[in-house]
Amino acid sequence: MTSNIFSKKLEEKDFNRLKTFIESSCGIKLSENKKSMVEGRLRKRIKALGMQGYSEYVDFVFDGGRESIEQTYLIDVITTNKTDFFRENNHFEMMTSKILPILSEKGGLGHHKPLRVWSCASSTGEEPYTIAMVLAEFFGINGKFNIFATDINTSVLSTAQRAIYTEDRAKDIPYALKKKYLMRSKNPDDRLVRFRPEIRSKVKFARLNLKSSHYMLPESVDIVFCRNVLIYFDIKTQEEMLNRICSHMNPGGFLFMGHSESIHGLRLPVKTYAPTIYIRD
Ligand SMILES: C[S@@+](CC[C@H](N)C(=O)[O-])C[C@H]1O[C@@H](n2cnc3c(N)ncnc32)[C@H](O)[C@@H]1O
Repeated sequence: MTSNIFSKKLEEKDFNRLKTFIESSCGIKLSENKKSMVEGRLRKRIKALGMQGYSEYVDFVFDGGRESIEQTYLIDVITTNKTDFFRENNHFEMMTSKILPILSEKGGLGHHKPLRVWSCASSTGEEPYTIAMVLAEFFGINGKFNIFATDINTSVLSTAQRAIYTEDRAKDIPYALKKKYLMRSKNPDDRLVRFRPEIRSKVKFARLNLKSSHYMLPESVDIVFCRNVLIYFDIKTQEEMLNRICSHMNPGGFLFMGHSESIHGLRLPVKTYAPTIYIRD
């Protein structure tokens, strides 16, 4: 009879080592009820590495010292990357109807400088490409704007950089925009679409850990999308992360948060502009 190596559970001490590492490196708190999620997500990886079970894997993660390749992989496996095109669409409607007119009038664009947008937890790219389409509609595809998209997870970043999606994922993109900004795969059976080079060239991707205290941005930005990421952190970490994000924003710039997120009680240099939309002092 072949024994199933995964009949064993992730032991408490090993879970605690993973928990401590994940929290200190990227700020995500893994509560006890996340244990089975962690087990499930690691199982495939452990099998692929030909290991005997969780304990061996956990030793391997920490044997390589700080920032080992396996630690990066572990972060990739643990992060939750759910996203959609035009997610929380009222943000994009507000951008077109109110915020872009304000920023372009103020001179962000009229006066030579391109409008800069940062999608700081960009996942597989749906958010930054949605922003790119919205900006292209407002300013024209050759307009002066660019988008900086970052995430801690290297695997979602490479998906985002490829800019290839299934037709099913792209179903939330309005038809007129699909026609303008997406190409179909040559083989229709693939049912894949890809963003055109003009859109792709507007978005630059990089790995960035929002928990890190010393990251740099190429330039300060006019709009930040920080949506559906802070929910994973405790209040103190949220406050630190958001203050750091704000330090990279131009005064009068706009910050978008996810609909289920709140900055209530946090000390930040912003004022409320509309629900979940803030303006930098
Ligand atoms: C649920 S997705 C949100 C994607 C998108 N912003 C949206 O609202 O659709 C959360 C993303 O945050 C990223 N993330 C988690 N911790 C992070 C950290 N410390 N620094 C940067 N990104 C992080 C995850 O890898 C994941 O891709």
